[in-house]
Amino acid sequence: MQFFIDTANLDEIKEANDLGILDGVTTNPSLMAKEGITGEENIMNHYISICNIVDGPVSAEVNATDFEGIVKEGTYLATLHKNIVVKVPMVLDGIKAIKYFSKKGIKTNCTLIFSAGQALLAAKAGATYISPFLGRLDDISANGLDLVAQIRTIYDNYAFDTQILAASVRHPMHIIHCAEIGSDVMTGPLKAIKALASHPLTTSGLEQFLADFKKGNQ
Ligand code: G3P
Repeated sequence: MQFFIDTANLDEIKEANDLGILDGVTTNPSLMAKEGITGEENIMNHYISICNIVDGPVSAEVNATDFEGIVKEGTYLATLHKNIVVKVPMVLDGIKAIKYFSKKGIKTNCTLIFSAGQALLAAKAGATYISPFLGRLDDISANGLDLVAQIRTIYDNYAFDTQILAASVRHPMHIIHCAEIGSDVMTGPLKAIKALASHPLTTSGLEQFLADFKKGNQ
């Protein structure tokens, strides 16, 4: 399973990249705003800065919701760097634009996926990735992981090339369950990725080993 980090924070992206396990980055307008990145020029430069840190797909979201606007913005975003993936919202004009981009060889990530029907449509249009927001489904007492599993079954039934990019991942168990289900990619916060390394028996075992080494070598 590929690991993407879901942030626009350059320090966090560097830290995850330095671990050697980072495959890509996802951003969205809210994450950009959280870092105080505003204005078209600053936002474009920020995407380039991210692409200069990580050698992998970087999702950059369009803000238009109509076909012409999505095509215009997405076509420009794709010129910024070879690793840019155009993130397109799950609306009918977005589906049309994904088909357009797919014919042009421009990679896409269909975002705000909350149902299997939406995932099926995006795959039919030729999306490179689809982003089911599993944490936000959990937030409304639905089951985000069930949706990821349902999409996995549908894509496998028809050998769709579209990759499932589990998004809105909130904690390490989300990551582990996504891996069990066979999600192609997960995108989550640095905290959830780092939490995978922690186990109290590892901590206590290491303390014991270090104490015994010290005793035997003084
Ligand atoms: O990648 C989608 C993600 O940014 C949404 O996450 O935690 O705001 O639901 P969250």
